[in-house]
Amino acid sequence: MPGENCLLSVVNVGKSYRTFKGQTRILRGVSFDLPKGSMAGLLGESGSGKTTIARIITGQEKPDRGSVYLDGNLLLPLGKRPFSHAADIQYVFQDPYAALEPGYTVEQTLKEPLWLCRRRRRQNTINPQEALDKVGLTYAKWAFKKIGELSGGQRQRVAIARALIPRPRLLIADESTSMLDVETANSILDVLQAVNAETGLSVLFITHQFSVIHKTCDLVFVLYKGFIVERGETSAVMNFPSSEYTRQLFESMKFLGEVKTFV
Ligand SMILES: Nc1ncnc2c1ncn2[C@@H]1O[C@H](COP(=O)(O)OP(=O)(O)OP(=O)(O)O)[C@@H](O)[C@H]1O
Ligand SMILES: [Mg+2]
Repeated sequence: MPGENCLLSVVNVGKSYRTFKGQTRILRGVSFDLPKGSMAGLLGESGSGKTTIARIITGQEKPDRGSVYLDGNLLLPLGKRPFSHAADIQYVFQDPYAALEPGYTVEQTLKEPLWLCRRRRRQNTINPQEALDKVGLTYAKWAFKKIGELSGGQRQRVAIARALIPRPRLLIADESTSMLDVETANSILDVLQAVNAETGLSVLFITHQFSVIHKTCDLVFVLYKGFIVERGETSAVMNFPSSEYTRQLFESMKFLGEVKTFV
């Protein structure tokens, strides 16, 4: 059984999709534990099933087998999930242009989840001003701008601020910086780190770039062929990868020069 310090526990999750080629097994038995307050990275190549895991955790997708627990409580699929559990886990999308309503002001964008929380009697939310402050945007300057006027990086900050409104326990950032230029991406990573340090919420960072995990995460899980083939502290995994796949991945990054960004 996972210890007291475990926030999220993914246990033996399997998932197949039916495609024109027949049944394709994407996740074969994925298990990992996320400690409270951690910054963890889920690394895997494109198509390895990272988003599928995220969708299973958020309840948008039902696993064929296995289960996910938050604080030891079974997480049900979205329609059956209590609001408190749904609000506890927030998801920041890859595409900041598709995730927010361009005609809304920043304040309207942030008030929407606040109203929902009030209607569902969730206590202990944070207000739009505080949320903007946490992502480095001042209320006076930004609250009344339309989403459509903002850059990709600014939208991603607003998306993170919106996700913080219900005071979640876990934030899943699914390739949330991959559509941004390097400088903006780094500033978003800094925001996530600051939020983690300040509020103690856990962040699961999903990416196919080890450099992002190296910069941001203290823990890493590597997904390959439907299993977690590597897990551990980022620096330990970097120096002593235990799986052949991770070793090859690092070798190819050295070859491509990406290794320069994290050694
Ligand atoms: N609803 C679906 N129906 C059929 N196949 C699907 C469905 N959703 C995902 N897949 C397939 O499952 C595999 C894993 O998809 P997933 O989006 O989880 O990968 P990923 O690791 O997030 O990839 P990327 O890094 O490109 O975002 C892919 O081959 C994808 O085509
Ligand atoms: Mg994905």
